[in-house]
Amino acid sequence: MALPKKVKLVEVGPRDGLQNESVPVSTEVKVELIHRLQDAGLRVIEATAFVSPKWVPQMADNARVMAAIRRKPGVSYPVLVPNRKGLDAALAAGAGEVVVFGAATEAFSQKNTNCSIAEGLARFSEVAKEALARGLKVRGDISVCLGCPYEGEVSPDAVVRVARALDAMGCYEITIADTIGVGTAGRTRAVYEAVLKHIPAARLAGHFHDTYGQAVANVYAALECGVATFDSSVAGLGGCPYAKGATGNVATEDVLYLLDGLGIETGVDIEKLIAAGEYICGVLGRPTHSRAARALAAKRMAA
Ligand code: HMG
Ligand code: MG
Repeated sequence: MALPKKVKLVEVGPRDGLQNESVPVSTEVKVELIHRLQDAGLRVIEATAFVSPKWVPQMADNARVMAAIRRKPGVSYPVLVPNRKGLDAALAAGAGEVVVFGAATEAFSQKNTNCSIAEGLARFSEVAKEALARGLKVRGDISVCLGCPYEGEVSPDAVVRVARALDAMGCYEITIADTIGVGTAGRTRAVYEAVLKHIPAARLAGHFHDTYGQAVANVYAALECGVATFDSSVAGLGGCPYAKGATGNVATEDVLYLLDGLGIETGVDIEKLIAAGEYICGVLGRPTHSRAARALAAKRMAA
């Protein structure tokens, strides 16, 4: 299959990237990061999560982040919502898009959201119904599609079951997530091939953590399946507090370097993106996880 000509990059750094941070990050820094990311050309930026502050204290300033963002026309700022309470708070904060997040395994569903897969889907269905009725967009993410920290291997059929349920409740896009970054290109392809029997590629996305260094290869495998939407995190920040040992998302800079090299349009400026990564790494006091950002910065220094 020919590769897509355009790709939509969904920047998840301000949410996935910062939800697992032990260094406290102020609301002002989060907002500044979002502004820099939108100025780099990103059109979808996951801004925060309306989850329990007891479970994820890093996202407790969700409403303040939403209130402080200088919203740019044409940019959407999806927020994670696990239940009705989260939706109500997201609506009050003026969210235009919500993300429900389920899992392909029972153990991960319990650890991440304190409920079974079926209970989670019932909550998401209520959230989706209400959100759609109010004119919001609803996206559905599926965790641990390529491996689970508690259950090990995950069958593509388990992913298909959740994907079909999210599709049935009206999610416009369904994201196959490799939460712990264990997937390889062949496994990625197998999962997409199974899901593609039910949902077209134009409505699928990929969300790959990079624990084993396979995320860029997995993005390429998904591109070959026709998938044209990818989540990534500036500077490779990220991780899930309920998936111990998993590292950050694939770095946006690395995915962009791949896509630029393939002549695939994204609308994102790599230099501005690298500068946004340098900004947040400066605040966190650590080097970037992006190989492309490191290499391009070294080249710039040498010039
Ligand atoms: P629970 O403890 O079962 O909730 O948590 P509950 O309904 O029994 O309520 C307990 C308390 O939480 C109550 O407060 C509720 O009001 C409050 P209390 O009466 O004790 O004061 N509460 C809330 N507060 C704020 N916002 C809410 C909310 N809901 C209840 N929305 C719950 C269940 C789902 C809330 C909890 O498990 C939770 O917040 N989990 C979220 C975990 C999370 O955010 N994980 C990371 C994001 S997912 C991810 O990173 C994966 C992804 O990147 C893809 C991938 O890589 O796989 C998307
Ligand atoms: Mg994630």
